[in-house]
Order: sequence, then structure tokens, then C-alpha cells
Amino acid sequence: MLVITDLVKQYRTGTRALSGVNLKVNEPQVVAIIGSSGAGKSTLIRCINRLVEPTSGKIILNDLDVTALPRHGLRSARRRMGMIFQEYNLVERLTVMENALSGRLGYVSFWRAYWRKYPPGDVAMAYELLDRVGLKGYENTRADELSGGQRQRVGIARALMQRPELLLVDEPTASLDPKTSRQIMRLLCELAHEKGTPALVNIHDVGLAQTFADRIIGLAGGKVAFDGTPDKLTPAVLTEIYGEEDWSKTIGEVKGRETQAHKKDQESLKRESAAG
Ligand SMILES: Nc1ncnc2c1ncn2[C@@H]1O[C@H](COP(=O)(O)OP(=O)(O)O)[C@@H](O)[C@H]1O
Ligand SMILES: [Mg+2]
Repeated sequence: MLVITDLVKQYRTGTRALSGVNLKVNEPQVVAIIGSSGAGKSTLIRCINRLVEPTSGKIILNDLDVTALPRHGLRSARRRMGMIFQEYNLVERLTVMENALSGRLGYVSFWRAYWRKYPPGDVAMAYELLDRVGLKGYENTRADELSGGQRQRVGIARALMQRPELLLVDEPTASLDPKTSRQIMRLLCELAHEKGTPALVNIHDVGLAQTFADRIIGLAGGKVAFDGTPDKLTPAVLTEIYGEEDWSKTIGEVKGRETQAHKKDQESLKRESAAG
């Protein structure tokens, strides 16, 4: 599905953000990318959709050699990848429905989009997705009236409107409170699995990554320092990724908190559904 070989990015300033990243995603799984601030997480994601031009290396998405694409081929390539951002990137004065439909912009003609004449199939798909992300009844609400969590739900729906082959997600919960962060991560991972779409999710919260991702990649110094399932993330590995710190305590705390929080989530879900 996604094969990245020897990816290097050196910025004009001389900073080498990625120095030979190798990574393969062969199945529709959620891959969390963790690492300190400045480890190169955003650069990696942005190289994949060529918002950042790689210095060298190769990126293949299914049948598409992303790195070999000329500039004019980028639009059609980018619609195959759904992006979800920390700051949501919604159009504030447009409605939830219009924001969701804008995920189809890569597909409909300029004039159709300008006159907001989306094909009925697209509109039906948007209603269905908005319902699925928990925004039924909010279709005509303006984006600027939404809470952060609701905005990110729109962001997720908009990305899925593209029917992407890959989801690229950069710190989706960094602007959200802990409870909302969990709900958004859970929703994102559930939907990736439901749609069979692989997802790369940059996330600095190790606990969230461990709880929800199928696989974790640790970046350190622009290289892959760890690649494995969440249960393999030991204190020694965390030290390699983040540096010296008493991780045994952190992991224990995180696990305990996660279990408790999970119980609470389940209880409140039951209450919500009992209340109709
Ligand atoms: N546009 C840019 N120009 C120059 N240096 C950059 C640019 N973007 C990021 N960097 C540098 O590249 C390194 C990796 O950054 P980034 O990919 O944003 O890391 P992360 O997302 O893991 O915090 C950092 O040292 C950062 O300062
Ligand atoms: Mg970043």
C-alpha cells in the first residue's frame, strides 16, 4: 500500500529533518508516529503528499510513484490522500455540510463547486458520514459555532469524503482536552478500520498512541528508532525515542488511567444510549 524508501529531507536552512526513513504499510492499519518535538513527524507526513519536497528517496502509494510526480500531477495525487489537521482547517463561515462536501473539491469541477452544485451522491455520502461522526442535526450549523471536538469530527468527515487510499493525520488531538482527545482518536481509528483505509497519525501523546494504534513508529533524529506493536514499547525503547526519563512509572500510570477512563467512557455511553 505505502512504501517509503530512504527518505531524506534537508531544509534550505540546513536542518536535516529526515535522514533515511524506511517504512512499509502493507495492510489497512492505524500507524501512530511518535517522537519528540522536532523529530520530523510533520515533515514525514508532508513529504508523502508533497507539501514538502523530499530531498531524496522514494514514496510509493499503491500504483503511484509520488516522488516522481510532476507539479501538475499533484492535485490528482493529493485527492487520494485525506489530510486531517491539528487546527482542523475548516472554512469558518461555511456550514458543516459545506465543509464536509469540500472534501469532494478535488473531484468536482470548479464551477460546480463555485455554485455549490455537488452531485446528489456526494450529498448523500456527506449526510451519512456526518451522522457516523456524531454530527447528525448539525449539517446547517456554521463551522465557527462548533466546539473543537465537533470541528475535528467535521475534519474527519471531510477527509473521508475523498474516499482516500491513505489518511495522513498530523496531531489531531493537540488542541483538544483529554476526554475529547480520546473520543476523537477512537472515532478516527474505528473509521479507518471500517473503511479499510490505512492511516499515519502523528501524535505526541504516547498513552493515546498505545491505546488506539495498531502499530507504533518512533522517530528520533530523523530516523525510525522503533517500529512495532504498542505492547513492545518498553521503557528502554521510550528512552531511545525521547531520551532519559523514568518511563516505567509513566507506562504504569498511563495503563492504569486508560483502563479507568475506558470504563468511564463505556458507562457514559450506556447512559447516553439509555437516555436515547
Ligand atoms: N519549513 C522549514 N524550514 C526549515 N526547517 C524546518 C521547516 N519545517 C521544519 N523544520 C525543522 O525540521 C525539523 C523537524 O520538524 P518537524 O517535521 O516539524 O518535526 P515534528 O513534527 O516531529 O515536531 C525541526 O528541526 C524543524 O525545526
Ligand atoms: Mg509536527
